[in-house]
Amino acid sequence: MGIRIAGTGSYVPEKVLTNLDLEKMVETTDEWISTRTGIKERRIAEANIPTSDLAAKAAEAALAMAGISADQLSAMSVASITQDKVFPSTACIVQRKIKATKAFCFDLQAACSGLLYSLEVAKSMLLTHPEYKYYMVIGSEKLSSIVDWQDRSTCVLFGDGAAAILLEKTDSDENCFLGSKLGSDGNYTDILQIQAGGSDTPASHETIDNKLHYMKMDGQAVFKLAVNAMVGACKETMEKCGVHPSQIKWLVPHQANYRILKTVAAKLDISEENVYINVHKYGNTSAASIGLCLDEMVRGNQVQKGDYVLLTAFGGGLTWGATLIKWC
Ligand code: ACO
Repeated sequence: MGIRIAGTGSYVPEKVLTNLDLEKMVETTDEWISTRTGIKERRIAEANIPTSDLAAKAAEAALAMAGISADQLSAMSVASITQDKVFPSTACIVQRKIKATKAFCFDLQAACSGLLYSLEVAKSMLLTHPEYKYYMVIGSEKLSSIVDWQDRSTCVLFGDGAAAILLEKTDSDENCFLGSKLGSDGNYTDILQIQAGGSDTPASHETIDNKLHYMKMDGQAVFKLAVNAMVGACKETMEKCGVHPSQIKWLVPHQANYRILKTVAAKLDISEENVYINVHKYGNTSAASIGLCLDEMVRGNQVQKGDYVLLTAFGGGLTWGATLIKWC
């Protein structure tokens, strides 16, 4: 049995928020944002559009590419830190919207590493259940809904978007997922979080007044940990699979910050021209970012059968991971 990527899809809202727009909202400059992060603009969903709408559009695009209908899906997961509601799961809401009537659906929360964690779960489920054939992996975020638009240290970094990757189990021996390494460290839960709204600190007038329902981040701490975590996971994955950095056609890192991506590539001895980057267009879209890259690469014919594609991510938790694909 093998597993292949049968389709990819993505969706970003039409509304573009540029660095120049942000200059009018907080004390910042295009120059500061560009040089520190590489971000030039990001997409922002309308107030009445939830994460599930973005996810449904991305999933429909992946289904169309694969030429199958939603009722052929065995399973579907949505990775997100901006679920429509605490419960029910966003995946069940997407199920209703795209009519994936036969799938079982659930949310997976690993912050920006969510897509890589989801691929691991999908792969394992497909291989262990003979009756499953198609599994839809979605990463979807409306980060504009959890950003404090008065906090310049975070609001310039994030954007909205969704991506879907449709996995198919085949009769061939070829498995395009060669190997992976996932990790997490709960000692760092405090450096990237939303403090209130859960059972630890339920929402109250006080939590709202203190803005505890917004994302808070210690940017410098995240930066250092992110680089080490991604480099370690990538090295271990390549070693396990017997693939040398010079064989990597594309390194596709979670699009958080251009400087992080450059540093990771340098430490891995992977040339910058082999690093896929679109952070300038979308900012950090958390669980959606790697999928947004993959869909662009597929639709732009930038990836061919046999290419080694190394995905890597890190995010709140902390969580991190790497997954090596031989495109098939
Ligand atoms: N515009 C202008 N100045 C700013 C801005 C801004 N938007 N934001 C911060 N500054 C100021 C700070 O106040 C500080 O001023 P000071 O020196 O007078 O105190 C100065 O710029 C430097 O601030 P630093 O935080 O040291 O800036 P740094 O170079 O570390 O860049 C950044 C900050 C971009 C956040 C960087 O640390 C980073 O990218 N970290 C990683 C973040 C990340 O990738 N998070 C992903 C998590 S995603 C998830 O899981 C949801």
